Parts: sequence; structure tokens; C-alpha cells
Amino acid sequence: MSDAIQAIANAKIGFIGAGNMAASILGGLIQSGLPAKQIYVSNPSQGKLDALLERYPDLNTSNDNGYVAEHADYLLLSVKPQKMALACKPLQELDLNCCVISVAAGVGCQTIEDLLGKGLPVIRSMPNTPSLVGAGATGLFANQHTSEQQKKAATAIFDAVGLSVWVDDESQMDLVTAVSGSGPAHYFLYMESVVVAAMKQGLPETTARQLAAQTALGAARMVQDNPNLEISQLRRNVTSPGGTTAAALDVLNDGKLPELVAKAVNASVVRGKELAEIASKPDHD
Ligand SMILES: NC(=O)c1ccc[n+]([C@@H]2O[C@H](COP(=O)([O-])OP(=O)(O)OC[C@H]3O[C@@H](n4cnc5c(N)ncnc54)[C@H](OP(=O)(O)O)[C@@H]3O)[C@@H](O)[C@H]2O)c1
Repeated sequence: MSDAIQAIANAKIGFIGAGNMAASILGGLIQSGLPAKQIYVSNPSQGKLDALLERYPDLNTSNDNGYVAEHADYLLLSVKPQKMALACKPLQELDLNCCVISVAAGVGCQTIEDLLGKGLPVIRSMPNTPSLVGAGATGLFANQHTSEQQKKAATAIFDAVGLSVWVDDESQMDLVTAVSGSGPAHYFLYMESVVVAAMKQGLPETTARQLAAQTALGAARMVQDNPNLEISQLRRNVTSPGGTTAAALDVLNDGKLPELVAKAVNASVVRGKELAEIASKPDHD
């Protein structure tokens, strides 16, 4: 068992919803050494549960969200925001004795407390898709009922699929969503555009794709490995005056890339608030 997972070594982890995010987190936990028999998962349709059971036969699965909630020390609500109210309905009659962790975009701690009971420890998380390959970035916020031990456990859960950071103010979670939750798609679009442009000029697609991906990875590594250097300094370090990089950056700046990115981040924040509104209302389908 990895050191990171020690904080939940004896805990039972429950997942309401067995979709992509649940599958990647529970897969990361098992890979880090948490026994599958300590994990409980519920989902309305059986197919996703069967697929998980095939991979991890010791998992505890059910179509009943209440069964999972009753067993869990940490209960991850891993359904779409618009399904949250419906998924929580079977839990409302239970005397919950767990820390609830929501992974749903835009769903606030207060909404979860309103759905499941006042005074409940609630952690709001915002993981991202690279969690599927163990390179996720997760933002975390805890309400005032959450203990330090529960926060350590949440850190362990999300560190099993990448890196996690805590924010002190829940309003910053909309920004976490904009930066890391939606962020992978920003970088995909950029790489996609570079590959298409290089192909148009004659580079084979496979070569362009390999170079674009490795370059993105390398640039990210340089940012992570030099925490005391401004990113703008790293950029300046690789930009010789009058060189090829400077020529490209002039075009990006003339096209107002920084302003465009600021608008994109703002659009994510606005949409996150709209989704929070939707999530606080019941879904009857
Ligand atoms: N994927 C990402 O990159 C990402 C990143 C950050 C946050 N998130 C958040 O993670 C949450 C889950 O996303 P996802 O991508 O994993 O979605 P997903 O693959 O669609 O999984 C959602 C699961 O919830 C199940 N479900 C629906 N209604 C339910 C109910 N009443 N009770 C229990 N389970 C129910 C669905 O089952 P059926 O398919 O059988 O209907 C499905 O398996 C979302 O809130 C999303 O905002 C996702």
C-alpha cells in the first residue's frame, strides 16, 4: 500500500454512480493498494457495475444508493450535477455517518447539506479527466463540519489519481473548474490546432501528434520542476529576439490569445454557476 493511501487504509469508500470519474478514482485507489473489498459502488444500470466487477471481483456493488451510503465512511457522489437531487433521494431517510465528497461540477456544499442533512461533513471536489490516466488535478474545499482527518482522507483519495490542492474559499471552486476541470480541453484544442497546421504544411500526422504531445508534456514538466520561476520567465528563456519562437508568439499576441483565454475562463465560471442552479433542483426523469 502506498504511503499516500495510509490515511484511508481502514476506511470504506462508497461511490454513488459508476461512470467515468468513479471508475478512474476507484481504479486509482485499488492500484495504490486499497483492497477492492473496502469499496462500495451503486449505479442504476447493471452494465457498468458488471464491467467493474469483471476487473475487480471483490468490489461491493448494488443498484441501491442507500446500501452504499450505509456502508461508507467516505461517500463520493459521482453523478452528473442534474442527477444529484434524484441520486440523493434514497439517502434522505438514512442516519448518515460518513463524510460526503461531491465530484459534481458546480454543486456547492450547501446544496449537499440541503439534500442530505444539516451539519454533515461535506467536501466539494473538482477532479479532471486526466485522472483517468493517473495524472489528474483536483481542487478540494471542505465545509466547517469536516475534520482534519477527513480532509487528509480526501487528499489521499484524489492523490491516488494525480495531484490535489485545497482552496479556503468555496467561491474559488468555480475558478478551479475553469482552470483544471475544463482545462484539458483547452490544451487539446491547442495541440489539435498545432497538428492541423503542421499537417497542412506537410508534416505526417503521426509525427506532428507525437511532437505536439511530448512538447506539451515537456513544457508542463518545466513549469512543475521550477516552482520559483515565473511561467513568463520560462517563456522568455526560450524566446530569442528575432527568432522563430518570437515570430510565432507575435502572432499569438496580435491575435490577443491572453484576452481570449481570460474570456474562456470567465465563460466556464458563469456556466459553473448555472449548473449549480440546475443541480439544486430535482430531476424527475
Ligand atoms: N468526466 C470528467 O472529466 C469530470 C471532471 C470533473 C468532474 N466531473 C464530474 O463527475 C461527475 C460524474 O461524471 P462522469 O463523467 O463520471 O459521468 P458519467 O460517466 O455519466 O457517470 C455518471 C454515472 O451516474 C449514474 N447515475 C445516474 N443517475 C443515478 C442515480 N440516481 N443514482 C446513482 N447513479 C446514477 C449513471 O448511470 P447510468 O449511466 O446507468 O445512467 C452513470 O454511471 C459529474 O458530476 C461531473 O460533473 C467529471
